[in-house]
Amino acid sequence: MDVISTKSMLSSLLQRYQKQGKTIGFVPTMGALHEGHLSLVAKSTSICDVTVVSIFVNPTQFNDKNDLANYPRCIEKDCALLEKTGCKIVFTPSVEEMYPEEDTRQFSFGNLDKVMEGEHRPGHFNGVAQIVSKLFDVVKPNMAFFGLKDFQQVAIIKEMVKQLDLNIEIIACPIIRENDGLAKSSRNQLLDPKHRVIAPKIHQTLATAISKTNSCTPNEICRWIENEIDSTNVLQTEYVQIVDYETLEPIKSFGAQKAIICVAVWAGKIRLIDNQEINPKINKIKSKRG
Ligand code: PAF
Repeated sequence: MDVISTKSMLSSLLQRYQKQGKTIGFVPTMGALHEGHLSLVAKSTSICDVTVVSIFVNPTQFNDKNDLANYPRCIEKDCALLEKTGCKIVFTPSVEEMYPEEDTRQFSFGNLDKVMEGEHRPGHFNGVAQIVSKLFDVVKPNMAFFGLKDFQQVAIIKEMVKQLDLNIEIIACPIIRENDGLAKSSRNQLLDPKHRVIAPKIHQTLATAISKTNSCTPNEICRWIENEIDSTNVLQTEYVQIVDYETLEPIKSFGAQKAIICVAVWAGKIRLIDNQEINPKINKIKSKRG
């Protein structure tokens, strides 16, 4: 496994693989790798000839300086984990390497970056689009792998690929959870014991909410989720929204469209996100009938 920190060295190494007709799979990360990331790497190595993982804590996507300062960084441990995966190249650039000058590009994703994370973390998705487009430009992957815990990020990356007319297939991979249901996240290691013990309540509540979609409106379910989580007196919801799976527009009733419940929850000073798909009623009826 090669660990490379400059764009020029990465490009020349990748060109050699590309000339040999090898397919390139790319997993962009901010490090502090966990099984969620490793599942993306496993997916990539299973379908691509060469897997590249980037580790870069991207300053332009943090709207909170403390969050950026406290974000866990452990490159050596990450590389040791990646050694065992079949990953061929780890790209670990510096901030100067990725931003030799300020990136002033402003992306526009319509509704996709206005709601939920976009509303509560101004500038976040613009920063994500800046770095992912720069990384795509150097790696030129055939496929790129993203986890569905960051559901809205996946929607935005797909839209960015469309807008920039890039020939990259975006592969969305399922959320990986701890045994108690908490979605795996690099931020989980920052939770203190009091918050860690109650954090699985987030997933439990979303899973239970699914059984209410036959009898309640989306709005009623959102209020119920808020109440369940906030009444722990330890967790505090920032938002709970049920939106259309494609457009991310809030939905008013459950019908034939696929939807998703998305939440952001404060566990002390740590902000956690999670989501739960709601499949169209039509499928439920079909599956009941067999
Ligand atoms: O999901 C992440 O870890 C980051 O947003 C990403 C895609 C690596 C861009 O910095």
